[in-house]
Amino acid sequence: MGAGFFTLHLFYSMYTRLLKPIFFLFSPERAHGLAMRGLKLFLSFPMMLKFFSKKFDSNNQQSICLLNINFKNRVGLAAGFDKNAEYLHSLPALGFGFIEIGTVTPLPQNGNEKPRLFRLPLDKALINRMGFNNQGVDAVVERLRNRPRNVVIGGNIGKNKNTPNERAVEDYIICFNKLYEFVDYFVVNVSSPNTPNLRDLQEKEPLKYILNELMSINAKHHNSKPILLKIAPDLTATQLLDIIEIVEETRIAGVIATNTTISRDNLHTSDSIIRAIGSGGLSGYPLRNKSNDVIKFLKQNSKTQFTIVGVGGILNPEDAYEKLLAGADLIQIYTGFVYEGPGLVKRINQFLMKKGY
Ligand code: FNR
Repeated sequence: MGAGFFTLHLFYSMYTRLLKPIFFLFSPERAHGLAMRGLKLFLSFPMMLKFFSKKFDSNNQQSICLLNINFKNRVGLAAGFDKNAEYLHSLPALGFGFIEIGTVTPLPQNGNEKPRLFRLPLDKALINRMGFNNQGVDAVVERLRNRPRNVVIGGNIGKNKNTPNERAVEDYIICFNKLYEFVDYFVVNVSSPNTPNLRDLQEKEPLKYILNELMSINAKHHNSKPILLKIAPDLTATQLLDIIEIVEETRIAGVIATNTTISRDNLHTSDSIIRAIGSGGLSGYPLRNKSNDVIKFLKQNSKTQFTIVGVGGILNPEDAYEKLLAGADLIQIYTGFVYEGPGLVKRINQFLMKKGY
């Protein structure tokens, strides 16, 4: 065991024993803001940025070419964490191979009323009903003009709450066109449980229509961008077969599986607390198996090879490995990052390297 192991262990202990208890004194949303602003400030000192980049960097041996993009490693930051592309100069220093911004909508919107983010520490889970709070695509584009080049950036796009589903395609097109030259891949998000009726867009006809429209715009560019579809973990087998058919027919590049679940099964947190929290998407540990099942289903039932990004309930390196065994090519984390801290990225990468990834 080298000095690297001990430094990583030290970071892990520092986060879980010192920083996390402090952050957890604040409401989850406030803690997120404080942590991210703190990180940004801390890493604005070039010496710190260099130190952290070196400590959290994983070996170059892990770089991989997928979607015609070179990823430094397979571990990404899931959408929703940096919705407005505010932390793109700090987050790569924590070792991520890719970062997905958004969900971005055409117009800025406040999202749902607070509180809208809740911790379930007994379950290592979160429930959120943020409702696509974001500053709108124009503000995000302004920030991306100065984007870092040393990390892959995905643009996760959605529709505004007030846009009816019949006109949803227009919102996706606006975001797609405006973000086009600034991101490396796109994610069409039709699976958030927190925008009323959004998930109806996962049905065959509306979904095919949106994806075909985006693919035809994509084809007009000589360097077309990979488009991925982010799906819910609550789809039935029939709906998943439809998704496979749509992916293969529209020839999009792949699927992100999965978003948060509306299920509240198998939780250790008491029913009364769960009822008091109310609606929202559940993420973290209780989502792990559900998301793995979706990934396995997609892998086993697809005729063609498309890229699968596995996300949902990765709390430790073994969970990440399981996602790859289930059929994922890349993985993303969100809730695990909150509970386990930034060292998780490198711990996963080191473990995956030992497993030959
Ligand atoms: C999310 N997630 C999410 N996904 C998305 O496509 N667009 C979004 O805007 C958001 N926003 C968001 C906010 C919060 C507070 C959470 C916890 C999650 C879903 C996220 O990207 C991921 O798919 C799930 O959280 C499952 O992964 P984890 O958290 O179990 O690793």
